[in-house]
Amino acid sequence: MESKFQNEHGECPKNLKIGVSVYDQYDTFVASLTECLKSMAKQKEKDENISINVEVVSAGGKQSVQNDQVTDFINAGCDILCINLVDRTDATMIIEKAKNANVPIVFFNRELVREDLERWDKLYYVGSSAAESGDMEGQIVVDLCTGEDNFKKWDKNGDGKLQYVILEGEAGHQDSLVRTEHSINIITEAGINLEKLGDGIANWNRAQGKTKMDQWMGEIGDDIELVLSNNDDMALGAIDSWKESGKSDWPLIVGIDGTAPALQEVLEGNMQGTVLNDAPGQAHSILEIAYSMGQDIELPEDIELTDDIYVSLPYRIVTAENVEQILKQQYQP
Ligand code: BGC
Ligand code: CA
Repeated sequence: MESKFQNEHGECPKNLKIGVSVYDQYDTFVASLTECLKSMAKQKEKDENISINVEVVSAGGKQSVQNDQVTDFINAGCDILCINLVDRTDATMIIEKAKNANVPIVFFNRELVREDLERWDKLYYVGSSAAESGDMEGQIVVDLCTGEDNFKKWDKNGDGKLQYVILEGEAGHQDSLVRTEHSINIITEAGINLEKLGDGIANWNRAQGKTKMDQWMGEIGDDIELVLSNNDDMALGAIDSWKESGKSDWPLIVGIDGTAPALQEVLEGNMQGTVLNDAPGQAHSILEIAYSMGQDIELPEDIELTDDIYVSLPYRIVTAENVEQILKQQYQP
């Protein structure tokens, strides 16, 4: 394909067409990421004096739909694709299509295996470490329960253990399994005794999180001292359930993502903490990779590529102590 772009010294930056497909438009975290991407692209258009067209489509949870969307994007002349895979184990067809058409792909948020990312040198992955987020979620609990008085506050029945339930994301998602394992390990390694009363998959979803908690509420509601959740939306579902129950003796509730409504609940004291999943940082990285690939120039220095493939953004703990500061610092799309 002929490029209007002259050379790597960039006399003539070319307009950019970016095709984005997300696994599900109703996912709160992913939606916030694409909102950031669109608004950052608008800013970059002004800064670089070019046109950047970002089209976002949703695959509605179907890999076959996403595969077709990739074909449509390629036929429509997209310069680069940003793909939030439906099924992170099923990227082969998309990769083949993009490779044949020489259109690079930045995958994000739903991590494919390295072997797939090594199939072609124009494949990238932008995300964050699942282990780190689980560790931090566990650390919030450890910090709040260290010291006898602090522990007593949450150990409602005074048996020296924290009775907990855990809400898990989609089965097979890198962030579900790893966050569960790491959060629990960090807590138990700190010497806090845990007793599991229930676990349930709520697919990252607020309504499903509420349904799960509603079930537990009837059976074991008063016994629950800790609610661990693989993300904020499910924790918010649990909070919805507690609010509705009218009970006053709430458990310690923690999530991951730092979405706007979750930060609000931390501010109000209904949720004790969350772990900021850096949507603006990820969006910025995606956009810069797309821009650099499109212009055939080096990546800017603030984007660190590991093994020529990965950009991993750090997580950050949010509790009552720093939530106001975090709210002030948040990028507003
Ligand atoms: C986020 C979840 C989100 C999921 C979607 C995770 O990293 O924490 O909130 O639903 O990605 O893939
Ligand atoms: Ca207890």
